[in-house]
Amino acid sequence: MWKSWMSIYFLNYVTYYCIITDACLPGYFGPNCAHLCNCRAGSTCKVTGQCKEGCKIGWSGPLCQKENVAYNKPAYQKSDNLTSAELAVDDDISTCAVTLTGMPGWWSVDLGQIYMIKSMFVLTNRLMNLKGVQIYVGREKNMFQMTLCITLRVYGQQASVTCDVPLIGRYVRIINVSGPVILCDVAVYICSSYFFGEECGNQCNCANETEMCNPYTGECSSGCAMGWTGKYCNTECLYRYGQDCRNRCGHCAEGVRCDTMTGFCEEGCEPGWKGIRCDQPCENGTYGENCLSKCGHCRQDEACDVVSGNCRLGCEAGYMDNRCDTVCPHGTYGEDCVFECGHCVHGTICDKVHGFCPAGCHFGWEGVFCSQTCLPGRYGRNCHAECTGCLEGICHPETGKCSKGCTSGRSGPSCDDGCQSGRFGINCEGTCERCKDGEACDPVTGICQAGCLLGFSGSHCLTGCDQGLYGPNCTKKCGFCKKGTVCDSATGLCPDGCVEGYNGDRCMQGHVFNDDSGPQVKIFLGVTIGVVGTMMTIVITCLVLIWQREKLPKKNPPKQHKTSTPVKETSRSIGDTEFGDDVVVV
Ligand SMILES: *[C@@H]1O[C@H](CO)[C@@H](O)[C@H](O)[C@H]1NC(C)=O
Ligand SMILES: *[C@@H]1O[C@H](CO)[C@@H](O)[C@H](O)[C@H]1NC(C)=O
Ligand SMILES: *[C@@H]1O[C@H](CO)[C@@H](O)[C@H](O)[C@H]1NC(C)=O
Ligand SMILES: *[C@@H]1O[C@H](CO)[C@@H](O)[C@H](O)[C@H]1NC(C)=O
Ligand SMILES: *[C@@H]1O[C@H](CO)[C@@H](O)[C@H](O)[C@H]1NC(C)=O
Repeated sequence: MWKSWMSIYFLNYVTYYCIITDACLPGYFGPNCAHLCNCRAGSTCKVTGQCKEGCKIGWSGPLCQKENVAYNKPAYQKSDNLTSAELAVDDDISTCAVTLTGMPGWWSVDLGQIYMIKSMFVLTNRLMNLKGVQIYVGREKNMFQMTLCITLRVYGQQASVTCDVPLIGRYVRIINVSGPVILCDVAVYICSSYFFGEECGNQCNCANETEMCNPYTGECSSGCAMGWTGKYCNTECLYRYGQDCRNRCGHCAEGVRCDTMTGFCEEGCEPGWKGIRCDQPCENGTYGENCLSKCGHCRQDEACDVVSGNCRLGCEAGYMDNRCDTVCPHGTYGEDCVFECGHCVHGTICDKVHGFCPAGCHFGWEGVFCSQTCLPGRYGRNCHAECTGCLEGICHPETGKCSKGCTSGRSGPSCDDGCQSGRFGINCEGTCERCKDGEACDPVTGICQAGCLLGFSGSHCLTGCDQGLYGPNCTKKCGFCKKGTVCDSATGLCPDGCVEGYNGDRCMQGHVFNDDSGPQVKIFLGVTIGVVGTMMTIVITCLVLIWQREKLPKKNPPKQHKTSTPVKETSRSIGDTEFGDDVVVV
């Protein structure tokens, strides 16, 4: 599309270039190379017709198109001549044609063909002047058929002559009614075909190229050529072109005028315009010089400004800058890139248009845009993991690390691990090394399922046995260990042996008491019975002695009867051990 457009442009330009500046063969110039150069011998003219080294003899003007048609033409004068008449047309002003003095004279030149004559030049010598001289033009030699061009009215040696109206003729005659004629130079100027103006410096600009314009005014009967206007077709179009300058130039670059004939812009177009004449606005979606730039991504498919390329409504999602031709930088998205991306996994880029993270969210983030942190109790990629083992269910959303420690029975940074054997509770800080047979306790409760090591009790087996107890769960009573010693809480063994009267490893076996009664009780009972027995013996003995002293026959006082009954029972049981032989039974 662009290429084909470019090639059309190029072809047009080539065409344009050829029409205007086609090079001519040496010696020719102008449109269709129709004009002859009239440069000095040995040189040729430029494309414009100008001669670098001046004009050849007989030619003058800026383009050497002004011809002196009298040059070297046959000349003659009144018969009583003093010098040759042709000395006035020999291009040498030092030689003059002179007629006899004392009577009126005349001088004439035969131009060889009929011309439209208006412009001439006359030079006499230093002693003479041109006042009163008359110049005639005619088709015939005959003086009476000639028309007066001008009667010179000023003194002077030389005169540029312009007839009041152009005259048609082949012969030019110069007459002095008051005296002889002395002429050193006479020129009759004619413009070359298709040139006009005082100096023949203007080319005809007729619509019909074959029409020769008026050689003095430039007027054309066919109207003016493209690029020219005015009554005489000598005003060039200004910022216009074509027939009668009817058309306005397009928007050529830098305010340059378009070609007055074709309207082409040689230097290209102003921003916002295109075409060989720069008269077509940029199509939607293009801008700049010659519309060569493509619009960026304007919002709502708006066409950008054809000159600057700026988008008026801002950019569509994913682009930014005035021209919306910059892709959103890393970390931004949306219209004009005003939004910041969320937390895409490993810093990957988010979708420049919608902002979502195509590869998912980074650890600790969730939501369509990965802009929300995980809800409490969740962590990890897309917050899929739960903070299960954490105390209060709270963990770091990114790492899963439990900020407040682990729940009972769990350990490790993320509380993924159980307790080591022998530990339990929150963060596994509790120890439970006293379970039976070295078994692990329940990691959560710390309870020893199978009971405790010997010598310990309680659900966590942390309590040693109370003094006097031993064995599994401290459920057994110690025996009668030696005074001041305690049995081993695990085995029940007495370290220093038994209280007197007991034996066995655990001092459980005694003489009287079964295993269930302690040695202290036995001692207490023995001593009590001994004392009571002794005292009663003494009392009874005294009573007997008193009774025998006062009244021998008086027997059985009431007091003795009262106490004798309980003693009878106990003394029978203890009598064997301590008091046996001493006790007196009544
Ligand atoms: C005078 O004119 C005649 C004819 O035009 C010519 O032949 C003659 O040479 C001229 N005389 C002089 C002195 O040049
Ligand atoms: C014409 O004749 C007059 C009078 O003799 C003289 O002054 C004048 O210079 C003559 N003009 C020319 C051009 O010879
Ligand atoms: C142009 O002018 C020539 C004569 O000058 C005439 O023959 C010819 O028909 C004209 N052409 C046009 C297109 O008028
Ligand atoms: C260019 O865009 C304008 C509005 O933005 C629209 O009216 C016009 O039809 C479009 N022209 C082309 C050729 O697409
Ligand atoms: C010790 O206590 C535990 C629980 O407290 C119980 O399961 C176990 O049977 C007890 N063992 C004995 C020997 O009493």
